[in-house]
Amino acid sequence: MLAALHGLQVHLAEVERHIESALASSELKVSELIAQLGPFHGKMLRPALVMLVAETLGTAGDTHHRLGAALEMIHTATLIHDDLIDDSDTRRGRQTAHVRFGNTTSVLLGDYFYTHAFNLIADLNEPALMKRLTVTTNIMCRGELHQQCAARDVDLSESEYNRIIYAKTAALTELAGEMGAVEGTPEQRRAAAAYGRACGMAFQIADDCLDFSGDPKKVGKTLSTDIERGRLTLPILRLLASSDHGQGSRAELEARLLSVSSPEDVSAVRRMVIDGGGVAAALSTARAYATEAQGQLEGLPAGPERQRLWDLAEFIVARDF
Ligand code: IPE
Ligand code: IPE
Ligand code: MG
Ligand code: MG
Repeated sequence: MLAALHGLQVHLAEVERHIESALASSELKVSELIAQLGPFHGKMLRPALVMLVAETLGTAGDTHHRLGAALEMIHTATLIHDDLIDDSDTRRGRQTAHVRFGNTTSVLLGDYFYTHAFNLIADLNEPALMKRLTVTTNIMCRGELHQQCAARDVDLSESEYNRIIYAKTAALTELAGEMGAVEGTPEQRRAAAAYGRACGMAFQIADDCLDFSGDPKKVGKTLSTDIERGRLTLPILRLLASSDHGQGSRAELEARLLSVSSPEDVSAVRRMVIDGGGVAAALSTARAYATEAQGQLEGLPAGPERQRLWDLAEFIVARDF
C-alpha cells in the first residue's frame, strides 16, 4: 500500500465491492472465468485519485465509490487488451489473461469490463458524467491507435509523444480528478482535473522509464515491450535529440532502434538509452509534471487530505513499481 493511500482502505474496499458486484454473473461458466481471473489488484491509482480529491473537499461518499469503480474497470479493460497487443506475459505479478485464457477470451473479457463500467455510470442517471466517461474512453482508444500508427517513426516529435500519452493515460487520470470534485465548485473541478492530468503525464513518462530501467520482479509486469514494439518513448526521444548517442551517429542509433529482434538487441538498446542519459532526462520531465500537479492543489482546500495528494504526485515519479 502506498503511504499516500493510508486511510483510504475503507473507501477502496467499497470501490472493490462495486467492481465485484458489477462483474457477478448469473451464468455459471462466466462467473467461473471471473473467479479464475481472481482478485486482479493493481495500485488502484485512479479510484485513489477520485477518493483523495473527494476527501480533500469533504464530500467522499458512495457516488465516488461508484465513479472510482467505473474508472478502475475502464483501466483494467485497457490493460487486458494492451497485454494482448504487447504480447506481455506478466501483469500485476501474475500471468496475463491472454496467456491464461487465450486471445479470444481476453478480447471478450476486456469488452466485458468496459461495458460494466458504462453501466455503473449509467445507473447514476447523470448524462453529463456519462458523456465525460464515453468521451474519455474514446480518447484513450484514439491514443492506443495513435501509438500504434506512430511505432518505428524515428522522426516522432515530443509534442506528438505528449499527445499520445495524454490520450492513452492522462485523459483518464484527468477525469479521475474531475470526478473526485464532482460535488465541488467549477473552479475546484478545474483544479482537480488539471492535477489529475499532470499526474497522468508524469505517471506515463515514469512508466516509460521503468520499461528501460525497472526491475520486472518489483514492477510485476513484462518490461522492455516498448523497445520490442518500436515505440519511441521519451527516454529514446531525449537520447535522439542529444548529441551524445554513445559510440555512433544519430543514423546508427536509428538503425539499431529499428532492427531490434533478439534479446541481445533489446539489452543493447536498454544500455544505450540508460547510459546515454535518456532515462534521466525523461525523469526530470516527469518531475516537472509532478510539480505542475502539486501547483494545481492551490485550488483545493488546504489540510492533511490535500497533503496526501501532494505526496501522491511525489510517489508517481519516485516509484519503482
Ligand atoms: C499501467 O498502469 C498502465 C499505464 C497507464 C502506465 P498502472 O501502473 O496504474 O497499473 P496497475 O493498475 O497498478 O496494475
Ligand atoms: C499504457 O501504456 C497502456 C494503456 C493506457 C492501455 P503501456 O503499454 O506503457 O502500459 P504497460 O507498461 O503495459 O503497463
Ligand atoms: Mg503495455
Ligand atoms: Mg509501459
